[in-house]
Amino acid sequence: MQAIQVGLLGIGTVGSGTFNVLRRNQEEIKRRAGRGIEIVMVADLDTQRARQIVGPDVQVVADAREVIANPDIEIVVELIGGYGVARTLVLEAIAAGKHVVTANKALLAVHGTEIFEAAQKKGVMVAFEAAVAGGIPIIKALREGLTANRIQWLAGIINGTTNFILSEMRDKGLDFDVALKEAQRLGYAEADPTFDIEGIDAAHKATLMSAIAFGIPVQFDRAYVEGITQLAAADIQYAEQLGYRIKLLGMSKRREGEGVELRVHPTLIPARRLIANVEGAMNAVLVQGDAVGATLHYGKGAGSEPTASAVIADLVDVTRLATSDPQHRVPHLAFQPGALRHVQVLPI
Ligand code: HSE
Repeated sequence: MQAIQVGLLGIGTVGSGTFNVLRRNQEEIKRRAGRGIEIVMVADLDTQRARQIVGPDVQVVADAREVIANPDIEIVVELIGGYGVARTLVLEAIAAGKHVVTANKALLAVHGTEIFEAAQKKGVMVAFEAAVAGGIPIIKALREGLTANRIQWLAGIINGTTNFILSEMRDKGLDFDVALKEAQRLGYAEADPTFDIEGIDAAHKATLMSAIAFGIPVQFDRAYVEGITQLAAADIQYAEQLGYRIKLLGMSKRREGEGVELRVHPTLIPARRLIANVEGAMNAVLVQGDAVGATLHYGKGAGSEPTASAVIADLVDVTRLATSDPQHRVPHLAFQPGALRHVQVLPI
């Protein structure tokens, strides 16, 4: 069978990782997907740089709409980020009948309902494993591996930048500002660190996990969000003396008869717990299901190839489903519109 053709919008860190891993592991990936997966077109404003990454065999354009208009392309991978242009392009790709793979947590947490509804109407898929916890397959774990369970709660360290900052503050006694500068120097923080340090990035990711875990609409605006900017090195040292670690957790919990609680804030965790010992820029997510009990998912939450690993997992998933009869496709999202809602949580 002919390879499925893919167009990439944006070829920065994650895009180049995706291109490289797809090339490097193409035989295994082809076996697992049931057919080849080929990036045939890339759109990036910096066409020269894009050309250097993809070589001469891939078409490089500056205008993303050329990718969307290409009738041979079945999957569009959106790696532009942000809510503006990315939203327009994703909706246009869906309207053109393309499946979409995206790493854009902000876009889906804020405009997910509109995007998923558009995709459902058009009969295409929107996959977003790379949007949450980078290389950890947590969306697939919630949707597939843990699908037998009634999920009771989940809690995760889902922002590597803030976890790195908290680790530096604890290990080296650094102040917040100094640790933030170090995170920026090492390239962990987003272009605008506000999203990381104010807990917004973690809340985007917690919103998406919560929607999948509890089958509810995406409702970022109902999350209680508090970041780590008010923490001092002394807070961390006092916590340590009392046998606790401070971690920025994204949490979501079923509240029987009420809805689902969704919050992000610095949390005291007993130092002997596994999740309290997740250090540096690593991520971890704890999920409590009624059948399985607690499961802990650990790994790199960012970076070129770890995130590419998640993008390609989605490409394989979408390729398999796109190749099957639409009548027999498993519903991609399993949301229950009108079922549970996020309840508003007020600060303690
Ligand atoms: N800034 C994010 C983090 C990148 O620190 O986790 C990955 O989403």
